[in-house]
Amino acid sequence: MMTSPPPQLRPDSPELADQAGEWRSAYVHIPFCARVCPYCDFAVVEGQENLIDRYVAALLAEVSMADDWDTLDAVFIGGGTPSQVSPALIGSILEALDAKFGLVGGVEVSMEANPEDITAESSRGYRTAGVNRLSMGVQSFDDIVLTALGRQHTGRQALQAIEDAHADFERLSIDLIYGDPTETEASWDRTLDSALAAGTDHISAYSLTVERGTPLSRAVAAGAPAPDDDVQADRWERAAERLSERMIRYEVSNYATADPCKYNLATWAQGEYVAFGLGAHGHRNGTRTRNVRRLDRYMETIEAGQPPIAGETVGSDWDRELERLMLGLRRTAGVVTGVGGRRLLERHPEFVDAGIIEHRDGRIVVVKPLLTDTVIREVLAVPAQE
Ligand SMILES: C[S@@+](CC[C@H](N)C(=O)[O-])C[C@H]1O[C@@H](n2cnc3c(N)ncnc32)[C@H](O)[C@@H]1O
Ligand code: SF4
Repeated sequence: MMTSPPPQLRPDSPELADQAGEWRSAYVHIPFCARVCPYCDFAVVEGQENLIDRYVAALLAEVSMADDWDTLDAVFIGGGTPSQVSPALIGSILEALDAKFGLVGGVEVSMEANPEDITAESSRGYRTAGVNRLSMGVQSFDDIVLTALGRQHTGRQALQAIEDAHADFERLSIDLIYGDPTETEASWDRTLDSALAAGTDHISAYSLTVERGTPLSRAVAAGAPAPDDDVQADRWERAAERLSERMIRYEVSNYATADPCKYNLATWAQGEYVAFGLGAHGHRNGTRTRNVRRLDRYMETIEAGQPPIAGETVGSDWDRELERLMLGLRRTAGVVTGVGGRRLLERHPEFVDAGIIEHRDGRIVVVKPLLTDTVIREVLAVPAQE
C-alpha cells in the first residue's frame, strides 16, 4: 500500500491524483447541529444533543463490528457538526479506528467544525485527541450574508476561531459559499480578502446550491430570490483569480497552498473507504453502501447487534468506468482517458473544438471548469456499446 505522497508533488499534479486511488480512508458522520441551515440537505438533526453519548457509543460499536481491513491513510470526520461532540469523544472514535484498522504514520485526520464552537481550549482539545486538520465552515465574512444563510456566527467570530485554531493546526481549511442573492460583488471580494488574509493552507469555495426538499428550496418555490447562474459563474471566476494568487486550485472548488485534502483526493480517484455513522456512504470491492438516515433507527439497529446498512449498489464494469471519469474530471489534473474517455471524445468532438476539454498526455482535462457539470452530464449518457 502507498504511504503519504512525496511532499514535492503539487496539489494538482496528475501523479498525486492517480496515486490517491490507492489510499485507504474512513469517513465518520456526526449529524448533530445547533441549528439546521436552510440550504443544507446532509443527514443532520437539530436539538438532539442529549443523544450524543448514545450516538458515539453506537459509532464505536459499528466500527468494532466492521470487517478487518488495511491501515488508514486518511480519516474524515464530517457532518453535521463534529465540533458539537467533545474532544474526548472524538478521541474515542479515533482510538476505535486505530484499534480496528490502524492509522499509518502521517495519517491525515480531518474534522469539520463550526466557528462558534472553536475556542483556544476546544481547538487544543481536538488537536490533542488526534485531529490534525480542521475544516471550518465560515461560508462568508459578511454578516448580512451569514444572516441570510441562517448561520449562527458573525464574520468577526469566524476570524477569532481561525486565529484560535491556528495555534494548534498548521493544516486549516475554510469553507466559503458564494452566490446567495444578498451577496454583492464587493461583499464577495471582501470575503475573499479576509479568507486570504486569514492565512489558512486550504480553501473550499462552493456555489450555493438549492437542494430539493430544503427550506431554501421551499422559499424559492414560494417566490424568494434564487441564486443566479451568471452571477455565480462570475463569483467562481473571481475566486479562481484571487485565490490563485496564493494557492493552487486542484479541483473545481478546492484550493491548497501545498497539501490537498487526502480524503477528498482519494474519493475523486475512486479510492476505497469505510464509512460509519448516520447516512454515511462507503466504497469497497466495487460496492457502494449507504447507512440508514433516521437517527433512532441507526442507533437501534446497532444496539440490536446489526450493521446499519440501508442499501448497497454494485455497479457494472461500465458504470464504474463512467464513475471514474465523472469523479476524476472535477480535478485540475483531469483523468486517464481510458475506454470511457475515448468514447466521450468520439461522441463529443465539439468539447475539444470549443476548448472545453483537452486531450493530452493520455488524460482528459476540463479546461473550462465552469462547464464541468455539462461535460459530466454527457459522460453519464455514453452507452457501453455504440
Ligand atoms: C455539510 S457542511 C458541514 C460543516 C459544518 N457543519 C458547517 O456548516 O460549517 C460542509 C460544507 O458544505 C457546504 N454546503 C452545505 N450545503 C451546501 C449548499 N446547499 N450549497 C453549497 N454549499 C453547501 C458548506 O460550505 C459547508 O461548510
Ligand atoms: S451546513 Fe453545517 S451547520 Fe448547517 S445544517 Fe448543514 S451540517 Fe449543519
